[in-house]
Amino acid sequence: MSQSSTERITAELERWIGQAVPGSKLPGSRALAEMFAAGPVTVQRAMHALAARGLIEARPGVGTFVRRRDTVRPANFGWQTGALGAPTATTAPIPDTQRETEPGAIELHSGYPCADLLPTALVRASAARAARSGHALTRAPAAGLPELQAWFAAELSGSGPAPHAARDAIIVPGTQGALGSVFRALVGRGKPLVIESPSYWGALLAAAQQGVTLVPIATTPTGPDPDELDRALRDSGARVFYAQPTFANPLGGSWHPDRARDILKVLRARGAFLVEDDWARDFPIDTAPERAPVPLARNDPDGRIVTLRSLTKSLSPAVRVGALIARGPARDRLLADRVADTMYVSPLLQATALEAVTSPAWRTHRSALPGRLRERRDLLLQSLAQHAPSVHVDAVPQGGLSVWARLPQGTDAGEVARRCAARGVALAAGDAWFPAEPAVPALRLTFCGTEPERFPEAAHVIEGALTTG
Ligand SMILES: Cc1ncc(COP(=O)(O)O)c(C=O)c1O
Repeated sequence: MSQSSTERITAELERWIGQAVPGSKLPGSRALAEMFAAGPVTVQRAMHALAARGLIEARPGVGTFVRRRDTVRPANFGWQTGALGAPTATTAPIPDTQRETEPGAIELHSGYPCADLLPTALVRASAARAARSGHALTRAPAAGLPELQAWFAAELSGSGPAPHAARDAIIVPGTQGALGSVFRALVGRGKPLVIESPSYWGALLAAAQQGVTLVPIATTPTGPDPDELDRALRDSGARVFYAQPTFANPLGGSWHPDRARDILKVLRARGAFLVEDDWARDFPIDTAPERAPVPLARNDPDGRIVTLRSLTKSLSPAVRVGALIARGPARDRLLADRVADTMYVSPLLQATALEAVTSPAWRTHRSALPGRLRERRDLLLQSLAQHAPSVHVDAVPQGGLSVWARLPQGTDAGEVARRCAARGVALAAGDAWFPAEPAVPALRLTFCGTEPERFPEAAHVIEGALTTG
């Protein structure tokens, strides 16, 4: 669609907005596209232009509305500049992955699966049962509902030689906050933490928030070099290594078993913990869940491994429940920190999660996920190969929810992300996954959002943002 189509739609909508009652809802982007016989990207551009001029506002999940005009003098918050001082890493604007998008945008930025990938009937039925139970009206024990603790402990232990006890699993309201606890209680302000590069942006933010000093080591889809880890631990004196051995975000690979064994040997020799962020346990793509690499903590007789396990993305982003699993004094310190932070997790959510994961439908859901993720991953990869020849995918992700797409050397990934956003495609610049300067320019593209049929269109936009500016 040409520039003039965008301008025509913008002008017509502006006329309509001028006569509309403030707060009126605009038609949805599909309806607008039909109304103006225009493509979604053109409509999206017009909406952007109207939003930028303050004429409309998007309320995520609800719709787009005619903005209420301020009748009072606009507030002046200038005084806060002096009172607050400069922003820190964690008070800077929120990361790309957490941004809300304009209606009609293609969403490749968010790691939260859309409803098509969730067990919706199971979640609703479990929530209804939980609401009818006593858990709707009481508090929960600090470490969580014992039955849910037992479920997480049993899941982790499998038939391993050193089973975890229910008490080892501390229930958390999502594992993002649990990362803060780990870095606060097991590392401490100003102390070193070894971390893979690239690694999960949220872990980097949590580390920054706790003031720990990052010691990055390069990683690959099959894991970091154990000798590099040994050097980093030795030189820094760090006693904690945060890593994602299975289906890492962002590279999508898993540590080779020999490498995992060597890494554990290094950690044992240096008296260090491994924080195993097992976020993608439910997201194998090329294997069935029972054949996916087992968590390293399954073979951990002496409490060296602290595990994070989340249900946010596989059950429902609205039932944000996970577990922090640790043994010995580390477990006690982590529990004390969790209590200081949140006291306890809503038993209504815990009971919902428990109802769901102990139902036969949960197994069915988990078994169906790999095939459904494979279709989406492959469609995104094909779309990139066909329509975005300037991006390069080094390794097909074996699990997880995203593709790591490398850009030509010298590209400003942030600028590409901004251009794509202006053209109706939300995605994340890879820079946020690096603890230091980005080693390569890259985009992190998720394939778990709505409308996978628009992946080819998104790939086109990415190529355009790279080649035509
Ligand atoms: C690697 C990793 N760890 C932890 C989390 C936090 O997940 P939640 O707080 O929803 O449990 C995420 C979310 O994207 C993640 O990608």
